Amino acid sequence: MADKSATLTIDGTEYELPVLSPTSGPDVIDIRKLYGQAGVFTYDPGFTSTASCDSTITFIDGDKGELLHRGYPIDQLAEKSHYLEVCYLLLYGELPTAEQLEDFETRVTRHTMIHEQMHNFFRGFRRDAHPMATMVGVVGAMSAFYHDSTDINDPWQREVASIRLIAKMPTIAAMAYKYSIGQPFVYPRNDLSYAANFVHMCFSVPAEPYHVDPIVARAMDRIFTLHADHEQNASTSTVRLASSSGANPFACIAAGIACLWGPAHGGANQACLEMLREIGTPDRIPEYIARAKDKEDPFRLMGFGHRVYKNFDPRAKVMKQSADEVLELLGIENNPTLQVAKDLEAAALADEYFTDKKLFPNVDFYSGIILEAMGFPTSMFTPIFALSRTIGWVSQWKEQLADPHHKIGRPRQLYLGDTTRDYIEIENR
Ligand code: SDX
Repeated sequence: MADKSATLTIDGTEYELPVLSPTSGPDVIDIRKLYGQAGVFTYDPGFTSTASCDSTITFIDGDKGELLHRGYPIDQLAEKSHYLEVCYLLLYGELPTAEQLEDFETRVTRHTMIHEQMHNFFRGFRRDAHPMATMVGVVGAMSAFYHDSTDINDPWQREVASIRLIAKMPTIAAMAYKYSIGQPFVYPRNDLSYAANFVHMCFSVPAEPYHVDPIVARAMDRIFTLHADHEQNASTSTVRLASSSGANPFACIAAGIACLWGPAHGGANQACLEMLREIGTPDRIPEYIARAKDKEDPFRLMGFGHRVYKNFDPRAKVMKQSADEVLELLGIENNPTLQVAKDLEAAALADEYFTDKKLFPNVDFYSGIILEAMGFPTSMFTPIFALSRTIGWVSQWKEQLADPHHKIGRPRQLYLGDTTRDYIEIENR
């Protein structure tokens, strides 16, 4: 892939570095041999200018606000596809035929139950544990129950682990929710779609039948699709780094869940809705805009800004349309939180602080409004993001393992600490 090169001059010595060309996006300078040739490291703590891998799964054009999964635009997939079909696309690289899709959906459906003994794990948590804490623990514990799909060198075991993770994540997320509200666990049902099954496991109770509103199921499926994968974001990079040591798939995905929890990443959907509720009414928006712009104030507009998107996050556009549709279809009119969100977006995008810094709503800005309207507490917003992103993590994990040249990830550093010095006996300090 190197038909161009870059020249680096250090202390008068020139070093030729190959430049690799992508199918889309910026060229990359291949610095793999730099330290060996020039004895220097590169420095990029937040990976703002660093490609950590090559991939064929997802591409983001941050300037245009485009997101492609295996080349298909997210807005087309959100409108025309559904989550399990997108899972197939991300995992295997092509849209499935009807037969392939039926086989895939059947395999996933048949793996939705978790080992009965895992129920005991939940009971070790306090009832008020955040569902993300429970998910990190239970998903990591899957490696203690599914020994026959932990050998990453066995392609069949990698496939089984992939299906188990996609299939069981909704069950685990729903169980984490039920446990947190003191209600009994609800088993998955094979007669329901993936999204409807998750809604049923969350909101049904054994005492009476529960009918899943198809509007809610469709909105749920669309939210899953919009969160499926997103290049080398923090949690996906965490999964790749964990996997590079040879860790088993369940440990790697548990690491991804832990990373996603942060409010700068997947935790932003919960933080955003709590911010919108705190603002409360449109007349308080200027106060919060001023705080977000104040360098002395750590407050940031949650659900705003993105490392890659310097235009609208295409997922936020679809989510905003869905918010209007779902609230109307559910008969929820004049939702004050949605009105604050819309007015806040308008005020921010009319303010040059945000436009100059290219800060636009991201995927987390509207998702919480839909999830709240569907009946979820804010504590379930990030678990739903984790559930949705499992396919992205698994697909990227699988892609990395398939690369015969992949190595353990081991960054270096710019050391600014003490140089060598001798030990001082305590009586002399
Ligand atoms: C996700 O990477 C992914 O793909 C993630 C994700 C995915 O699908 O995996 O898209 C999901 O995590 C979406 C992002 C959710 N997080 C939030 O909504 C939290 C609020 N946003 C920010 O904290 C921030 O925008 C980040 C973390 C998302 C991006 O941070 P960057 O790229 O490191 O940018 P930065 O912090 O360097 O900010 C650049 C400037 C700074 O001002 P200056 O120092 O240049 O003067 O913009 C300012 C920041 O202070 N800024 C904000 C802001 N975000 C950035 N100011 C106010 N409010 C904000 N939200």
